[in-house]
Amino acid sequence: MGVLLFLTVFQCAINSVNTYGVSNPNVVLLIADDLGIGDLGCYGNRTLRTPNIDRLAKEGVTLTQHIAASPLCTPSRAAFLTGRYPIRSGMAAFSRVGVFLFSASSGGLPSEEITFSKLLKQRGYATALIGKWHLGMNCESNNDFCHHPLSHGFDYFYGLTVTNLRDCKPGHGSVFLKGVQRYLVILIQILGVTVVSVAVVHYIGFFKVPFQALGLCLLIISISLAVLIFFFYNFRHLNCFLMRDHQIIQQPLSYENLTQRLTTEAVRFIERNHNAPFLLVLSYLHVHTALYASKMFRGKSRHGLYGDAVEEMDWSVGGKSTNWEGGIRVPGLLRWPGVIQAGTYIDDPTSNMDIFPTIVKLAGAQLPYDRIIDGHDLMPLLQGKVIRSKHEFLFHYCNAYLNAVRWHPGNSESVWKVFFFTPNFTPEDSSGCYDSHVCFCYGGFVTHHDPPLLFDLSRDPEEKVPLTPETESRFYEILSVMQLAVDNHTRSLQAVSDQLSWNNLVWKPWLQLCCSSFSQFCYCDYDSENSLPEVYSG
Ligand SMILES: *[C@@H]1O[C@H](CO)[C@@H](O)[C@H](O)[C@H]1NC(C)=O
Ligand SMILES: *[C@@H]1O[C@H](CO)[C@@H](O)[C@H](O)[C@H]1NC(C)=O
Ligand SMILES: *[C@@H]1O[C@H](CO)[C@@H](O)[C@H](O)[C@H]1NC(C)=O
Repeated sequence: MGVLLFLTVFQCAINSVNTYGVSNPNVVLLIADDLGIGDLGCYGNRTLRTPNIDRLAKEGVTLTQHIAASPLCTPSRAAFLTGRYPIRSGMAAFSRVGVFLFSASSGGLPSEEITFSKLLKQRGYATALIGKWHLGMNCESNNDFCHHPLSHGFDYFYGLTVTNLRDCKPGHGSVFLKGVQRYLVILIQILGVTVVSVAVVHYIGFFKVPFQALGLCLLIISISLAVLIFFFYNFRHLNCFLMRDHQIIQQPLSYENLTQRLTTEAVRFIERNHNAPFLLVLSYLHVHTALYASKMFRGKSRHGLYGDAVEEMDWSVGGKSTNWEGGIRVPGLLRWPGVIQAGTYIDDPTSNMDIFPTIVKLAGAQLPYDRIIDGHDLMPLLQGKVIRSKHEFLFHYCNAYLNAVRWHPGNSESVWKVFFFTPNFTPEDSSGCYDSHVCFCYGGFVTHHDPPLLFDLSRDPEEKVPLTPETESRFYEILSVMQLAVDNHTRSLQAVSDQLSWNNLVWKPWLQLCCSSFSQFCYCDYDSENSLPEVYSG
């Protein structure tokens, strides 16, 4: 879940018919979670072979300092779609849980947010999201779909609305049951002891309680408890399902051939829309689910690079969930034959928030003027018209707490990075986050640094030796510039409703989607007929 890879493939033409030219290119964005910068051959990995991705790099631009706005997937995706720091849309958690865990919780990307898909759709693009969404579903009833991809500018959706937790795979253990079991047992014990002692007290006549009221109270508590236990024991059925648009087509989700099914959907979408400009966001689940795709796909894809890139999504999982460089520096590769110079490396800091203004401008749409967009258009950089990105400063958050800043001064090669606090690492959990859903960003879970930890990434990319006033003569001068930037950034934040508050994270039974009656255990499978097309079997 940790980090976000994107591969951007601007394809002017499928089947080499260039209909739209440079102004209305087709856009394919491939996103995979949990792919670290060290995992790709083109970023120096010698043991793991990703030949097609490497070819993409050779033919396009490789961003070596590409930064995800957050190490967690929910906020990172929000930033990607809106071009803004997740804190601006309320998509950064003040509590410990930093991502949505249940399909029936009320938080999600607010409808006031403007996604690039909304803007491209207004420009006549056909838009599709295939794969994982993870930015919420409903607000108040189980069919308002206020946070659903179709409410955020996508014409077509095929995929999961939550993440694929371990709990979704039969036989892979449970993230939750382990965590809640202990509390449930304690709750049941307390309840039992209360019932017995109240009965005894009443029997002795020690004090007269209105027995019926008390009984009703206990009944309500017992029912709520039973519902909770039911929920956690049926986690897979209730949370892991596949949707097409607003319809559930497989509940619970089957992992069999899932990556092929996603790819099939993507190919079909492109085939349906080859006459129109289109935007396709293909968002993979766990990369390792693609493991046996490769052999079957090799050389079979009709869509050249696009298909080849897809078929080679067979990487191992390695991301970390921190703001150390291993957690947020992600592979960023862009290819646009004839427009972007092949084989280029860009070492200037770029952000996954930059995709928003870049493709909005390419589609000829207007950037929203009523809000701050934190990303910058990448095209001048990609085309070599400028050598410096506009990101003089980039801010790093641990959930909703700003913990680090990066500064690349315009007149210098240095890339300064300062940490105001760092999560405390424990031996069994070296990332500071648990299972990529829960991060420890405040109180006793973090260490505050005064003076802050300062590194020069250009000299010390692994952040091994913090600088001191002795080793860096401009130590305090650098810190004060960065503090001013933080103050300015903080001032620009507006109060918004917290989408990851406990109230917006908890399971709300009335928001639960179920494709059959509850007595049939929310079971259905309409996706079986979606068999593999001739592209893959032939
Ligand atoms: C290549 O990737 C694998 C898997 O993530 C990792 O174990 C290995 O250390 C990487 N090698 C290099 C040279 O980064
Ligand atoms: C998965 O793919 C294999 C190989 O094409 C096929 O035999 C199998 O029926 C597929 N399973 C499902 C559930 O589609
Ligand atoms: C202050 O922050 C705003 C909003 O992010 C930004 O547009 C502006 O460039 C910043 N000003 C300075 C001097 O950094």
